Amino acid sequence: MSEFEKILGSYQIRINHKLEGLLPSDDSILANAMRYSVLNGGKRLRPILVYLVSELGSAEGDSLDILAGSIELIHCYSLIHDDLPSMDNDDLRRGIPTTHKEYNEATAILAGDALQPLAFELLSRINTSDKNKIAIIESLAKACGYKGMVGGQIKDIHSQDINTVQALDLMHSQKTGKLIETSLETSGILCGLDILEIKALKEYGSKIGLAFQIQDDIIDIESPSSVSGKDQGSDLDQDKVTYPSIVGLQESKIKAQELASEAKEILQLLVKNTDNLCQLADYIVSRKT
Ligand code: IPE
Ligand code: IPE
Ligand code: MG
Ligand code: MG
Ligand code: MG
Repeated sequence: MSEFEKILGSYQIRINHKLEGLLPSDDSILANAMRYSVLNGGKRLRPILVYLVSELGSAEGDSLDILAGSIELIHCYSLIHDDLPSMDNDDLRRGIPTTHKEYNEATAILAGDALQPLAFELLSRINTSDKNKIAIIESLAKACGYKGMVGGQIKDIHSQDINTVQALDLMHSQKTGKLIETSLETSGILCGLDILEIKALKEYGSKIGLAFQIQDDIIDIESPSSVSGKDQGSDLDQDKVTYPSIVGLQESKIKAQELASEAKEILQLLVKNTDNLCQLADYIVSRKT
């Protein structure tokens, strides 16, 4: 295992431990479905981004963990709803049955519905100035809403209308990129980075966010379910317009690599040590899961 993989592993352990404590622990169906959908592995990329940015500044430990956890809760809610029969109709997520398969559709919808406000409830408690707190809540709300993840998901549902690379980039940037960008921005705010540093991190985020979804489209074709933990070929089954379907598989791989290189160049603008964020850009476009 490389030094960088060890760092990723230690941040995964940290966030998994934190998430345990953030979720309701009673034995109700709703609490069980929420825990099932969150405490089930996952790469924890968005919390890792929060932690990697904190290496460039400083924040009180618990607030950082709450921020990382809140963003992961939003991400997990987006996955539950993404897998529903009326969305991507998938049976496998993180190597186990999707939430609607394990429980039922109504419970899955409601577990997602409960995770989303929990994230914002938790953020209302972080220990920072009111100005920072409002900026963090605004950034996350925008990232998951109309012009962010949900706005991207509706484009995905109607992806037959997409026939240019620009429109495809916009869909990918909204449905996946925005949550990645906000992980960097909100952590930058919490950790006291300056405006120019946060701007550079957001630009880096928009590059790795697009690269992340292109790689996800490639994984859908190339990675067996035993590796990805998801239904292989789901995009094809659903007639989804994806990067490989528009520009081809080879061109998609080249584009993902280019975006990772551009992301790393942007990090040069920061005078601080951004080696780990550089390595993360490479990890995003080489991952198989
Ligand atoms: C999958 O996200 C959905 C996308 C936004 C592409 P991840 O690949 O981060 O899924 P987990 O959290 O590791 O399961
Ligand atoms: C999902 O994109 C993006 C979300 C906002 C959840 P995909 O539909 O391609 O994600 P996977 O492949 O199911 O994880
Ligand atoms: Mg989808
Ligand atoms: Mg999907
Ligand atoms: Mg996918």
